[in-house]
Amino acid sequence: MLQADFFEQEPQIWEKYLPIVEAVDVPEQNVNIWDIPYTIRQLAYLTHSHFRYYGKFPSVVAGQIIDEYYDKATARPILDNFCGSGTTLVEASLREIPSFGIDVSWLAVMASRVKTQHVETSKVSELLREVERAYSPSPVEELQPHEEKWFEQSAVSGLKSIQGILAEMDAAKESEFLICAFLAIIRRTSRAFDAEVRPHINKEKRQRDPLQAFSKKVREMVDNQREYQLHTSDSIDHKCLLGGAEVASHVYSGESPSLIISHPPYLNAFNYAPVFKLEYLWGEPFEERFAKERSYYKKEMIAHPATESNSERYFNLLRAAYTESYKMQQVGDSLAIVIGDCTRHKKLIPVLNTVTEMVSEIGYTPVATNYRTTHYGTGKYAYNTRADYHNDESAKKDGILVFRK
Ligand SMILES: C[S@@+](CC[C@H](N)C(=O)[O-])C[C@H]1O[C@@H](n2cnc3c(N)ncnc32)[C@H](O)[C@@H]1O
Repeated sequence: MLQADFFEQEPQIWEKYLPIVEAVDVPEQNVNIWDIPYTIRQLAYLTHSHFRYYGKFPSVVAGQIIDEYYDKATARPILDNFCGSGTTLVEASLREIPSFGIDVSWLAVMASRVKTQHVETSKVSELLREVERAYSPSPVEELQPHEEKWFEQSAVSGLKSIQGILAEMDAAKESEFLICAFLAIIRRTSRAFDAEVRPHINKEKRQRDPLQAFSKKVREMVDNQREYQLHTSDSIDHKCLLGGAEVASHVYSGESPSLIISHPPYLNAFNYAPVFKLEYLWGEPFEERFAKERSYYKKEMIAHPATESNSERYFNLLRAAYTESYKMQQVGDSLAIVIGDCTRHKKLIPVLNTVTEMVSEIGYTPVATNYRTTHYGTGKYAYNTRADYHNDESAKKDGILVFRK
């Protein structure tokens, strides 16, 4: 064995599943394929698995963007202006880089916060025992129509009991941790398919006991949280702010971001409010802990269906968002947009080309195009109008467009 091999270190978990990058021979352009031949489970390391956020990107996409395009010498933060569940923030924290996100959804604020803040895990376990002791599901006299459609009577009484106990808890990082666990089991305890993006009734679904599901979820989260805390520092700031990407500079007033990672909703894929309607329903008592402006999530950009007027509004909003990005960044800073083409009535809408032109008009210079492939299955309802992940040369592409100011 060579001396060098002997000292070679095991890669850290967030370095293990980075995409396999292969250059594509395109004259005068920097084009690459980022292949991600890993399972969702492998990619959900540490706190990434705390909250299942439909429409998130694989953790390692954010990781690879940071490794390739973040200039450490700037020591300035990373911004994700469509932050979702905070995948970028977690990857930034693992690399000890300050980061912030912006999103219209309080669920995104909640998930990003819980996934990046440190907690006293022994206190979480104590609070869990408190929930287990106080749990007392009582039969619900009359179910609301939305409850009746999506939940068994026993699930409603169990969830109501947990929800009531959590609503009484003092505001603290540890109670936020439990709120995240509670919202993470809503889909599981409902009649809806877990894996489908938009809720759809699954007639075969086995009923799960809410308390059992909750306790199991908290315990899994605690294990992952402990591991996460070993690798990260609590003194570096990571925060998702409630707001719109199109007004980012009004929402955030700190240091300018030297890298912006941007993963907007995909045109003609789905809108977020209906996808998370069950979580918004059960999360109602907790909303104001995370959002100053209630129901702001209803102001999300409309991505579906891609009618002519919706598509026009979609691109106008992106133009406003990247104009804000340009305003916030310094010369030499980078912008990486993760986005996909789509079809409507079998006709291609070339989102990648349209965005490249738009962002160039704003003043950025394109520096690279990376197409990504994943090998895991995607729900049958959400993705048939989306980009093809498997190198279908002829049509829709899913990619990471990289620009420099
Ligand atoms: C594709 S997801 C981002 C997922 C994220 N990369 C992750 O891994 O969790 C797009 C996000 O954009 C948010 N969104 C919609 N309209 C927005 C707007 N005008 N400004 C900022 N965020 C918006 C949605 O709430 C959703 O969380």
